[in-house]
Amino acid sequence: MLIRPYEKPDRAAVRELACATADCGKPLDWLIPDSVFLADILTRYYTDLEPESSLVADADGRVAGYLNGCRDTSLWRVRMARRILPAAVAMALWRGLAWRPEIRRLLRLNWREYSWHCHGGAPRLEAYPAHLHVNVAAGARGGGLGARLVERFLDDLRLAGVPGVRASVRADNKPGLDFFRRLGFEEAARIPGLRVREDEKWTSVILARRVAGA
Ligand SMILES: CC(C)(COP(=O)(O)OP(=O)(O)OC[C@H]1O[C@@H](n2cnc3c(N)ncnc32)[C@H](O)[C@@H]1OP(=O)(O)O)[C@@H](O)C(=O)NCCC(=O)NCCS
Repeated sequence: MLIRPYEKPDRAAVRELACATADCGKPLDWLIPDSVFLADILTRYYTDLEPESSLVADADGRVAGYLNGCRDTSLWRVRMARRILPAAVAMALWRGLAWRPEIRRLLRLNWREYSWHCHGGAPRLEAYPAHLHVNVAAGARGGGLGARLVERFLDDLRLAGVPGVRASVRADNKPGLDFFRRLGFEEAARIPGLRVREDEKWTSVILARRVAGA
């Protein structure tokens, strides 16, 4: 299994895997049935605006996992506000999704996390400017791929002199939390939950890690 930089031809596979793993490693189609809209929200910034910071795990030409990275979250927030979120709202209107309560909730969830990053939530952006999302296909988990993707990203950050990185995991995703803790990330903050259905609230845990030697 090869860990290599993301390339343009990987785009469709990364989008597909993002949709297949969006609900703590399972599909999110019960909440967001429109996969084009969901993939745009989850991955378009990374694949289209900062492709040089993403990685894939390549199993003989098949994408078995990916890491979507961003080296400078302050640049991300400007580009999200100007390019990604307006396009997502326009798409929701254009595709007739905007009236669906679950789509509005997802946009609110993204907006809440976006605003949190913009308004100086701990950890400080200057100390932890980078962030990442990592997902491995269901059949390929537990074999070290996720750890290799994150370690390679940390190496890239070290070379680029980026001092710290953050990740966001849902509070009910215990395997995801264990994974990041095992890799030296520590909990830095919680973004209060948003109700996605009557009996379910999602809270985001923000984890952070210094990049040694950066
Ligand atoms: C979380 C995820 C990226 C981990 O990738 P992976 O390739 O399965 O993990 P690895 O095999 O590299 O595991 C590295 C370490 O993380 C920990 N870990 C991994 N999966 C775990 C699990 N299910 N439960 C508890 N600890 C786990 C282990 O300590 C492991 O080290 P060890 O094998 O030496 O004990 C992957 O399981 C996944 O995509 N999950 C669904 C989506 C998700 O939750 N993404 C992360 C949040 S955005």
